[in-house]
Amino acid sequence: MKFINLLLSVVLAFSFVNSQGQNRIDDNISGKVDSVMSLMTLEEKIGQLNLITGEGEVTGPVTMDRNYVQQIKEGNVGSMLNVNGSEYTRRIQKIAVEQTRLGIPLIFGYDVIHGYKTIFPVPLGETATWDLGTIERSARIAAVEATAAGQHWTFAPMIDISRDARWGRIMEGAGEDPYLGSKVAQARVRGFQGRYFNEKHTMLACAKHYVAYGAARGGRDYNTVDMSIRRLKETFMPPFRAALDAEVATYMTSFNELNGVPVTGSKRFVKDIIKDQWNFNGFIVSDWGSIAEMIVHGIAKDEYEAGNLAMNAGVDMDMEGRIYIRELKNLLEEGKISEEQINDAVRRILRKKFELGLFEDPYKYCDEEREEKLLLAEPHRKHARNVASESMVLLKNENEVLPLSKNLSSVALIGPLVKADKEYIGTWSAHGEAKHVINSLEGFKNKLGENTDIVYSKGCDITGEKKDGFADALEKARNAEAIVAVVGESAMMSGEALSRMDIDIPGVQKELIMELAELDKPLVVVLMNGRPLTIPEVDEAVPAILEAWLPGTEGGNAIADVVFGDYNPSGKLPVSFPYAVGQIPVNYEHKNTGRPRQEDVRYTSKYIDGPNQPLYPFGYGLSYTTFSYSDIRLSQEKIDFDETLQVGVTVENTGDRAGEEVVQMYIRDMVGSVTRPVKELKGFRKIFLQPGEEKEVTFDISPDDLAFYTKDMQYEAEPGNFKVFIGTNSQDLKEKGFKLVK
Ligand code: NOJ
Repeated sequence: MKFINLLLSVVLAFSFVNSQGQNRIDDNISGKVDSVMSLMTLEEKIGQLNLITGEGEVTGPVTMDRNYVQQIKEGNVGSMLNVNGSEYTRRIQKIAVEQTRLGIPLIFGYDVIHGYKTIFPVPLGETATWDLGTIERSARIAAVEATAAGQHWTFAPMIDISRDARWGRIMEGAGEDPYLGSKVAQARVRGFQGRYFNEKHTMLACAKHYVAYGAARGGRDYNTVDMSIRRLKETFMPPFRAALDAEVATYMTSFNELNGVPVTGSKRFVKDIIKDQWNFNGFIVSDWGSIAEMIVHGIAKDEYEAGNLAMNAGVDMDMEGRIYIRELKNLLEEGKISEEQINDAVRRILRKKFELGLFEDPYKYCDEEREEKLLLAEPHRKHARNVASESMVLLKNENEVLPLSKNLSSVALIGPLVKADKEYIGTWSAHGEAKHVINSLEGFKNKLGENTDIVYSKGCDITGEKKDGFADALEKARNAEAIVAVVGESAMMSGEALSRMDIDIPGVQKELIMELAELDKPLVVVLMNGRPLTIPEVDEAVPAILEAWLPGTEGGNAIADVVFGDYNPSGKLPVSFPYAVGQIPVNYEHKNTGRPRQEDVRYTSKYIDGPNQPLYPFGYGLSYTTFSYSDIRLSQEKIDFDETLQVGVTVENTGDRAGEEVVQMYIRDMVGSVTRPVKELKGFRKIFLQPGEEKEVTFDISPDDLAFYTKDMQYEAEPGNFKVFIGTNSQDLKEKGFKLVK
């Protein structure tokens, strides 16, 4: 007990200096941390590096019996994951504060990926909004709800670039592009972390999974990654660096090996880059058991060696592996690691506990009243509906089938996803519950008046071969004025450990769509899925296709908003939709090769059985209105290294509805000391235009925007000829040349 009092007096002695203001840059925290550390034994310090699971979602092997209460009392636990709710977190926090020698509070972490109770579209879908304000707001709301339920730390944002739609976790990220991925990463970090950690509703964010996890061989989760350092730095690192610029509090190392060394044990990639080059002062956590997994990878003989690798790599916290608890003392005694390394890790973690204000009030996030009031609050649901509508991408709309009229006499809602509430929220849906979901049938009922007869038929299951529901579905569809088929993947077909080798619409759903298409009626396919699907036949057969992703709690209302024209779709794909799985990886930012594809020329780079281009390219998405782009205007044709070029276009809404357009700007370096991609996204702007309205959109291009890793791996621009492209997607672009001169 006397130690707790001593600790409190130490903390209070420093507290007056920090009654307000930005905790993240409060220098007094170092003093407080040092004071606490001066009271700690080696065992207590090592305990701070141990993160163990509570009773929530378990996503890997649990390494010991789950009597975590005893472990907390013994001072062996610094943080916990999967302990949710004010009551549960308060109960556990009380043990740490009142029944350990020093009373150091725990950090509670959780996978708050796309909402806590109110669930937003899966992150890949949300990225399709290209609306950084909206994305930031979702993360903010997620933080407001999660902190009201006792959480201090989210294992998000997941910022792994991926160009492989087979990989189940592509759904958790921002897609294929490092520029867009970096902007989205920053928006999410800002949203979760808010302004100051000492406010009640901000939480630590965690940039994960560092690094190159999204490049798993064959798209199979946890698989090996082997890539050039240039590719790593140009494509996979930028979002992690961008997260640092947004002051992300923590990083998580990934499960994968990278060029022969699991990242969790790689000093070269973790400590040398994040801590030494980037001067990161937060802490780095392993993924679940990823320290121990180094034994299975075959790079460590036993737990002792695994702990040695991870600690020397700069991993500060061991997630559900208990390797640090078991081995750090031995490693220290045998001189494999130093006391300073342990101290540094502890210091980083305690610092965050101070920044969060946990020493002043360990229960500040455990507030039943706030929890009751804020979870699923009306403004949160409203945002969920808006962001879901904004995330939807209109892939096809022949003969303006969409939007459907609200005066239809009847509409047939067909498909296994129409009423499948739990699928709408996807995986990683935290405390989201199916019972709060508005499905498509409910959404349509909410939208349409009594004069429209809404008929429903499931038709078939999401997977499986059974077609005995076809007859009913076809009959109902035949008698309706318009058909809307809601089809795609279940929640459990994307996310962790949910890779697929065939990314077509599963089961017999495609056959059902083909039969519906034969009826020759207005037919809309609404796709729900967590990854790009290969749908060339559906694209061929069906006049209107709307990509709705896994749209979250308000999904059905949002689908109805778009289908009936209350929201004019503005989403753009953050990832290419392959034509066939054999094209993977297929992404807009590729090299030209020495023999770029030429139609009917044999010895050029192409497939003999299909196109090189994806079915729908990156940045693609239609609207119910149309936009025209003027030619590109340049402020000058040449710039030197001190100058900035302004490039501009005029965009006009040439249709008869108001709408939003994402204006995209790409560049190409025509000749470099190493070959450069045919296009790289360097800017985008989302604009709103009334019918007939025009807007001028300008972008600045500075030599920094033209920089890349040169032949000597220097990050700089090289003088020469460039092209700038501006347009509505990565393929449909105006272009103009300019020069960078020395
Ligand atoms: C393993 C996942 O890879 C990671 O993203 C997640 O944060 C942890 N499990 C904790 O659930």
